[in-house]
Amino acid sequence: MPVATACANIALVKYWGKRDTKLNLPAAGSLSVTLDALRTWTSIELDPAAASDAMVLDGRQREGKELSRASKFLDLIRPAGAPRARIVTRSAFPTAAGLASSASGFAALAVAGSAAYGGTSEPRALSVLARRGSGSAARSIFGGFARWDAGVRDDGTDSCARPLEGVTLELAAAIAVARAGEKEIGSTDGMEATRETSPYHAAWLAQVDRDLATCEAALRGKDWDALAGVVEGSCLAMHANAMAARPGILYFRAPTLWAIERVRALRKAGTPVMFTVDAGPHVVAFTPPAHLEAVAKALGEHPEVDRVITSTIGGPASLIERFPS
Ligand code: PMV
Repeated sequence: MPVATACANIALVKYWGKRDTKLNLPAAGSLSVTLDALRTWTSIELDPAAASDAMVLDGRQREGKELSRASKFLDLIRPAGAPRARIVTRSAFPTAAGLASSASGFAALAVAGSAAYGGTSEPRALSVLARRGSGSAARSIFGGFARWDAGVRDDGTDSCARPLEGVTLELAAAIAVARAGEKEIGSTDGMEATRETSPYHAAWLAQVDRDLATCEAALRGKDWDALAGVVEGSCLAMHANAMAARPGILYFRAPTLWAIERVRALRKAGTPVMFTVDAGPHVVAFTPPAHLEAVAKALGEHPEVDRVITSTIGGPASLIERFPS
């Protein structure tokens, strides 16, 4: 029974906008770092007697949308007539909190599913496959820093991530998990509404290529100031673009703005630290490992920050012997 593990990633240059929703093809590239603490484990057991797939996620049997998304994904891998699967999956972090769990989830499912059904073990092909489950999962196949090229082909075979070789910047993350509000608009719906109605969308897409080049150069040159400029700039431009949709999409909540201010105050006082925010209210602060504890402590001071998860850089998605106990 194959067991796989994969870590979620957080984008330094954001992906926001698809050129093909069915294949999850992005309109522009993106660049991320994989985080060790945001880890998912997934096993797949083939069950020749079962009429349909089954899934246990974080100890609870799931039906409906969650199961059907996983099941449709496995349909991309399994040969005709192959047995159904029993999927058991668990994450080291709260999956309902909107913390990039689809990235680690689909990367782990791609690796475990391919092993179970005799599919590919080649990372590039796994990245193309994981992308079909959730775009950002393409980047979680690789450890460390990964860049996802948009690709040009209509079939998506050239739209996958690749590791950024030679980047040795030591970076850690403190994730301020804001108290969950009402359910946010999901990334796919948010991206589509933005593409269809935001007057800023073309400008956003034009900026992404410049940001990718700036970000890669800042990482290679270990230039924290340049990195903070591009990481925060990409995040705020993505959110400005979404906010400009009609009706506007607003992921920020009170603790989000508070944490952003806090990160900027820490930086002004001399700490190399920068923030980013995905399609939810949580703030991720990146800093050198030596400053992690102080940054995490500062971010935990808001009453609506439930917890602060700290993490170092994570490794690639892989097969493992067994679930951790
Ligand atoms: O791939 P999805 O559908 O999980 O979308 C990811 C969107 C962001 O997290 C906001 C940005 C990113 O590049 O990860």
